[in-house]
Amino acid sequence: MEKVEGLIKIFLTNLKNSKRAVVLTGAGVSVPSGIPDFRSPNGLYAKYGQDIFDIEMFYRDPDRFYDFAREGLITMLEVQPNKVHYLLAKLEDKGLIKGLITQNIDGLHIIAGNKNVAEIHGSIRIWNCLKCGKRYEILNIDNKNYLLDNNFRCSCGSLTKPDITFFGEMLPLEEFSKAQRWAENSDVFITMGTSLVVYPAAQLPIYALRNNAKLFIINKGETPLDKYATIKFDTDLIEFCTYIEELIDSL
Ligand code: OAD
Repeated sequence: MEKVEGLIKIFLTNLKNSKRAVVLTGAGVSVPSGIPDFRSPNGLYAKYGQDIFDIEMFYRDPDRFYDFAREGLITMLEVQPNKVHYLLAKLEDKGLIKGLITQNIDGLHIIAGNKNVAEIHGSIRIWNCLKCGKRYEILNIDNKNYLLDNNFRCSCGSLTKPDITFFGEMLPLEEFSKAQRWAENSDVFITMGTSLVVYPAAQLPIYALRNNAKLFIINKGETPLDKYATIKFDTDLIEFCTYIEELIDSL
């Protein structure tokens, strides 16, 4: 306990002395909100298969993806941000983090109040028709219900696809360029709730390290970059954020 507190104080001192701290989040941040992550034993891949976000699979069998979307994506719209999201919004408000890069598609960082966000794997908020290009913003209940009632076919009859990056697709260029710029210019780079195995997202901490940034990793379970971290916290994120909230004003 005392040891963790000591390490958290070191982390906070680094954060407070930093000028350009950047955070990269992954699915673990939304687990306390009730959204399963991908690679844990009870994660989305165990339930729906590793290829559920594979672009070739989508074109081969769109209804398999739509069945998953009904249960695993549209339900994300009902989920609320948790303590981790709110703490990150507070850190941005206080000027302690300059940018938040997320691999998550649930939009919860924006709902919690972060403004400088790079959503590098896209978002479930927008669905596009693959033929006529019609755009459906599904925070609008009529649009959401229309897609659900028509098995995600556009009013022109064609397939729609959420604006998220599938394996086999390019990342959104503008969002990723922004994230890369933030990473390259950062002096402290923090990763939270990500296994750091998916590229090019996992390249971002490496850009930061090349610029001599300090790397802090908060994740239950190992990541391939643990050995480069100034401190690795193998801790539950809610517990970690509780410590931060308690200690942040005392330093
Ligand atoms: P993963 O499922 O690979 O990793 C999530 C990590 O969060 C795991 O190492 C968990 O142990 C950890 N974790 C879960 N709950 C936690 C908690 N309460 N406290 C601390 N750690 C916790 O998810 P990502 O790294 O986000 O891409 O996956 C990256 C990308 O792979 C996703 O964006 C998605 C996926 O394929 C696309 O869909 C394009």
